[in-house]
Amino acid sequence: MNQLIDQYGRKISYLRLAVTDRCNLRCQYCMPAKGIDIVDRKELLTYKEMYRITRVLSELGVDKVRLTGGEPFVRKDFVNFLESLSFNDKLKEINITTNGALISNYIDRLEKTKIKSVNLSIDSLNREKFFQITRRDVFDKVKQTYKDLLMSDMRLKLNVVVQSGFNTNEIIDFVELTKNEDVSVRFIEEMPFNGKGIRKVDELWDFTKILDHIRSDYKSIQPLESDPSSTSRNFKIESYKGSFGIIPAYTRSICSDCNRIRITATGMFKNCLFDDGVFNLKDFLRAGASDEDLKNLFISTVQKKPENGFVAEANRKSKNVSESMSTIGG
Ligand code: GTP
Ligand code: 5AD
Ligand code: SF4
Repeated sequence: MNQLIDQYGRKISYLRLAVTDRCNLRCQYCMPAKGIDIVDRKELLTYKEMYRITRVLSELGVDKVRLTGGEPFVRKDFVNFLESLSFNDKLKEINITTNGALISNYIDRLEKTKIKSVNLSIDSLNREKFFQITRRDVFDKVKQTYKDLLMSDMRLKLNVVVQSGFNTNEIIDFVELTKNEDVSVRFIEEMPFNGKGIRKVDELWDFTKILDHIRSDYKSIQPLESDPSSTSRNFKIESYKGSFGIIPAYTRSICSDCNRIRITATGMFKNCLFDDGVFNLKDFLRAGASDEDLKNLFISTVQKKPENGFVAEANRKSKNVSESMSTIGG
């Protein structure tokens, strides 16, 4: 069988597919207050095109798909799309990353799909601060989604972007959530994908600083075994029900086991979060590409996946890394 293997022997089995570049929130670390220039709807891949791309990739060994945005639930008929994608038997897991403000009404339907896990972005447990970070008054809705997801059959991970000057004083509160709740809290290093570029900060909260900060409060932190391709290094406080993890998103010490490719909402194929897109799939599809053409394209493009995020960044045509995460798809 044809497989997606890069020049460093990494097998690609995980697709991150962004279904929209739009979002209902305006998180400080993701986009400016006025939002970003969103593209015209006809520039977006259609669900049919996304279904086809996913089917072809699944025939090449991709068995995990994460649907992202912007905010995926902003796109009309997103849940119908999830339901049809669930019919693809080659996919073992379909997961979503969401800000949670729009999903409460859909949880019953989601439970009937192949969705195994939901990653919920929540950067503060304080209503006022949550508003400052997201610039929208949706804390109560997101909290309700959190509670509903805890009760559901789906695994729940919380994504907390650690932002110097905003929420570092809540890191321990987030760890404490894992005491009685079966949740995995993941602290993410802030990256420059905010529409402006790297933010000047007083203190750099990288993986080591986050872990040291947690260590200074707890004596019994146990490392957990995780899949080598996991973005997070995971830990547990002894006797606590849940766990926590740290994602070295910016220091990029996870690249050697990377199994991911990305497709943006406009059909740009990305071998790495830090590259600036290597192929426009939408144009290729709309010019009449066959499944065989697509397979050959994927196989040859993946071979050129850069060794790590630093190489990908250095190879960019536009040197400054500043596009919004909402455009990239996370
Ligand atoms: P799991 O499948 O649950 O492990 O999720 P995930 O961590 O792959 O996905 P999620 O959408 O929750 O992303 C969490 C954070 O990890 C985001 O800030 C992502 O941008 C970051 N991330 C995901 N994949 C990569 C990657 O390949 N490289 C880097 N540097 N960061 C990544
Ligand atoms: N740095 C780190 N993580 C980010 N995310 C969005 N923007 C950034 C950034 N600049 C996170 C979101 C979401 C995930 C897909 O990416 O919080 O959980
Ligand atoms: Fe929206 Fe996610 Fe960006 Fe926040 S981080 S503005 S929720 S796309």
